[in-house]
Amino acid sequence: MTENYNYRIIIQNGGLKLEKFYVTTPIYYVNDKPHLGHAYTTTAADIIARFNKFLGRDVFFLTGTDEHGQKIQQAAEKRGMTPKEFVDALVPKFKELWEKLNISYDHFIRTTDPEHIKAVQYIFKKCYENGDIYLGEYEGWYCIPCETYYTEKDLLEGKLCPMCKREVVRVKEESYFFRLSKYQDKLLELYEKNPDFIAPDFRRNEIVNFVKQGLKDLSISRTSFTWGIPVPINEKHVIYVWFDALTNYLTAVGYPEDTERLNHYWPADLHLVGKDILRFHTVYWPAFLMSAGLEVPKRVFAHGWWTVNGEKMSKSKGNVVDPFELVEKFGVDQIRFFLFREVSFGLDGDFTYEKLVARINGELANDLGNLFNRTLSMLKKYRSSIVPEPKGVEDELDVKLKNKALATVSKLKELIPKAELTKALDEIWQFVSFVNFYIDRRAPWSLNKEGKEELDRVLYNMVEALRFITAFVYPYMPSSAEKMVEMLKLDKKAESLRISEFEEWGGIKPGIELEKGGILFPRVEYNPKTGEVSIAKTKKATK
Ligand code: ME8
Ligand code: MG
Repeated sequence: MTENYNYRIIIQNGGLKLEKFYVTTPIYYVNDKPHLGHAYTTTAADIIARFNKFLGRDVFFLTGTDEHGQKIQQAAEKRGMTPKEFVDALVPKFKELWEKLNISYDHFIRTTDPEHIKAVQYIFKKCYENGDIYLGEYEGWYCIPCETYYTEKDLLEGKLCPMCKREVVRVKEESYFFRLSKYQDKLLELYEKNPDFIAPDFRRNEIVNFVKQGLKDLSISRTSFTWGIPVPINEKHVIYVWFDALTNYLTAVGYPEDTERLNHYWPADLHLVGKDILRFHTVYWPAFLMSAGLEVPKRVFAHGWWTVNGEKMSKSKGNVVDPFELVEKFGVDQIRFFLFREVSFGLDGDFTYEKLVARINGELANDLGNLFNRTLSMLKKYRSSIVPEPKGVEDELDVKLKNKALATVSKLKELIPKAELTKALDEIWQFVSFVNFYIDRRAPWSLNKEGKEELDRVLYNMVEALRFITAFVYPYMPSSAEKMVEMLKLDKKAESLRISEFEEWGGIKPGIELEKGGILFPRVEYNPKTGEVSIAKTKKATK
């Protein structure tokens, strides 16, 4: 993980400029420690960043924290701290979690960073000079936990926020407004001309319908509290936290001063967000950008919502899933895998320990772990662990295996940069299953008995298939991939694998001696009464 700002402007690769890929997570509110939902989005971004590096792209992966606003000010007051002391104490928790989850971010932005404050004031002024910001009075409802304005008709019965179902407050104050109404048609045109701008598709329709119903100008400053970035033309006001927060994506790539860096990385290739904040990213954000004369991001992908045993995670229910504890108990790659395997990325999902354990034991331990185990065992038994020359006749199944491996590479290349993480993982698992099927059908044990030369080819193919699998699982399970790379003696780190090494079958060098490494994914047992997790007694590996 690189803590330092990585000011790679243009990376030269034999004189060729590398294609860039800029991916972001939301910047999370630091009013509490991070939970499973935060881990989910950030891990998704990490998978996409790692895969783009595998493609050889110049990746910039941004995450960070959203530190201003009334919600943070209140949380700090409750603990008798200043807002800055309060956020300073919580930010390390986020960084610690990213370390535990193996998140390879390039920069961690905080909205209290001086260069961010400058960028926000600059873009505010730009929109103001372009005639899109005016002074007025706001009267209406505000949800502090969501930091969102509502009109009376938006509210649920009992004056509750339609998003989080908590009580809203009445606000009446002088406020600057952004002329959102002016952008209604431009936004509809944007959605129409760029069908990829909002994903998944059904979310796109929701946003289009919302904008078609008409947009009201948006209040973008507050006077009733102080924890925020001052409005540059009127210090009585602080800038609305969402106007502030969204700008982080620009600050991190050099806005407004470092135009070289900005021109290189902007527009962002992908903003990953939860469905709760899609509207901010696909309505407000492009409107602010258009007003400031900047390009809009290429794609915003909204994933769904995790519940726990069918219920919303909440502190009062005491059912908040702690990602630190999950990683501690089950292992980092087990969690990274589960999150994208269990629930189709884009849809809502439900977390239970039973499902997690079933995936670990069924798919990681049995399908994948055992595939490595049985391959290396057979190589040892039949060829003293030396990778043979692929001699013998190539049959239909051998060709199929090779073609499937290469086809999987192209499918991943198409799916992962678009954030289709579950579809991509399905492809990977189909390949894993196919390799297991290949072994069962080619039956090295029979070829051995019959003394057939083809055994060399089959064993070679099995090991070569593992090399492909290592690259496939790397973005999802980077530390397991490091172990795999060692088991296969690939002589490099998994993070240095590049797609160019997977355009042909046959990268494994005959003649190298492999060893059986340890168990990649131990089977686990979970006791729902005590919450204890233990390593199950290992079943003897099957053939
Ligand atoms: O909204 N399931 O921050 P936030 C899935 N600061 N994802 C979840 C989740 C759940 N149950 N709970 C949270 C903010 N998330 C703003 C963002 S960006 C310019 C400013 C994830 O701390 C999901 O990504 O409330 C969601 O969008 C985000 O956390 C909200 O984080
Ligand atoms: Mg939230």
